[in-house]
Amino acid sequence: MYYGEMVCLRALEVEDLDDIMRHWNNLEIRQYLNSQTPMSRQAERQWLEKSTTLDPWRDGKMILAIENKKTGKFLGTVSIFDISKQHKRAEFGIAIHNPENLGKGYGTDATRVMLWVAFHILGLNSIFLHTLGSNERAQKAYEKAGFKRAGVYRKGAFVKGVFQDFIIMDILKEEFLMEYPPGTEVGRS
Ligand SMILES: CC(C)(COP(=O)(O)OP(=O)(O)OC[C@H]1O[C@@H](n2cnc3c(N)ncnc32)[C@H](O)[C@@H]1OP(=O)(O)O)[C@@H](O)C(=O)NCCC(=O)NCCS
Repeated sequence: MYYGEMVCLRALEVEDLDDIMRHWNNLEIRQYLNSQTPMSRQAERQWLEKSTTLDPWRDGKMILAIENKKTGKFLGTVSIFDISKQHKRAEFGIAIHNPENLGKGYGTDATRVMLWVAFHILGLNSIFLHTLGSNERAQKAYEKAGFKRAGVYRKGAFVKGVFQDFIIMDILKEEFLMEYPPGTEVGRS
């Protein structure tokens, strides 16, 4: 539906359950996300059923599947949530699931496309995110996509026995539009 150079963002489907369960309970990935406890197939199915019927304006949330543009294979999910209609802002989240697919450019591309959706489709004005201080790969990908470091939430996360800082990053519509003004797209089908 929405294309980057390497990925396509499309609606999540309940049929994505098998692909999600394949790598979701892998601490190598989950150590960087909000929860490090195992997710059962049943719990994930319930989450998918809710997530596939979201409306960004009604539910304040949009979760899309990231697909490899060439192979059509499921790569992970990307979301914007806590959408504020008043302030025209939202928070951003992303996960590429298979550790073998990390560091290959998919995350940066998917982030750019989701920002394009946020600013050009939903008409938001700013997007922010938080990421672990130790997640240098994520910070690099976010910076390449246009996010700037905005601050630090000190010791906001407890992961693998250590309290870690959260790095807060954000991007304004006017900044994104310098690279992708109206009429431009991140990629083509
Ligand atoms: C964060 C994430 C979406 C980034 O996507 P990605 O496809 O892996 O990242 P990209 O390949 O687009 O860009 C990563 C950059 O960091 C670099 N990098 C890769 N591994 C790295 C590491 N271990 N440490 C530091 N930098 C690293 C890459 O070289 C690349 O920079 P470059 O293009 O200048 O060479 C993805 O890694 C991911 O989903 N990780 C697991 C879950 C997660 O961390 N989610 C985000 C929570 S805030």
